[in-house]
Amino acid sequence: MRAGLSVVAFDAYGTLFDVHSAARRLAPKLGDKGDRLSAIWRTKQLEYTWLRALMKRYVDFWRVTTDALDYAMAAVDLEDAALRDELLHLYENIEAYDEVPDVLDGLRARGLETAILSNGSPAMLEAAARHAGIDSRLDAILSVDPLATFKPDPPVYALPGDRFGVPTEAVAFCTANAWDAAGASTAGLTVYWVNRFGQPPERLPQDIAGEVGALRDLLQDA
Ligand code: LAC
Repeated sequence: MRAGLSVVAFDAYGTLFDVHSAARRLAPKLGDKGDRLSAIWRTKQLEYTWLRALMKRYVDFWRVTTDALDYAMAAVDLEDAALRDELLHLYENIEAYDEVPDVLDGLRARGLETAILSNGSPAMLEAAARHAGIDSRLDAILSVDPLATFKPDPPVYALPGDRFGVPTEAVAFCTANAWDAAGASTAGLTVYWVNRFGQPPERLPQDIAGEVGALRDLLQDA
């Protein structure tokens, strides 16, 4: 990452945490519906955040996640209350990508402060960070919840600068969600896009400082 940064904030779901890990763990029970269920669950979850922010009908991300799962289960014609509970439990204890602890340690060893900046509710984020063993490696867990809106509503991206008392551009924001990268960079953060899956760039206004293939690449100077 470039010089002059003091805080590194990470998107949570899709960046630190693998959103498809819950359905993958239940693959034997979900059979050939698993991949489709997981893809619809994630897409609907994001759509509901964008729509609710625009409609000014905020509910927290746990409720959005539950609603999106209910939609996805209906869409693949799956009616199973026990399976629904299991999926939600696994989402609460979502798996982090393997490289996450080392990357956080590496950044802190360089004197940078680390944070999560996420749509997730505080309770969800704290449970996920604890389960992944990264809670002690984070200086702050910042949720949209006090603002009652979702990314990419610009005020969300001011949270890390406000929390750490540093200018917006001194905050590096790392996200695997390309639309989130666009939102954060237009709001003035120094953005690194973690393009893990080799996706094409979004056709949206953006000014990305760097693109990396994995979180560990953030430890390189550039
Ligand atoms: C988050 C969503 C974008 O963690 O996944 O904010």
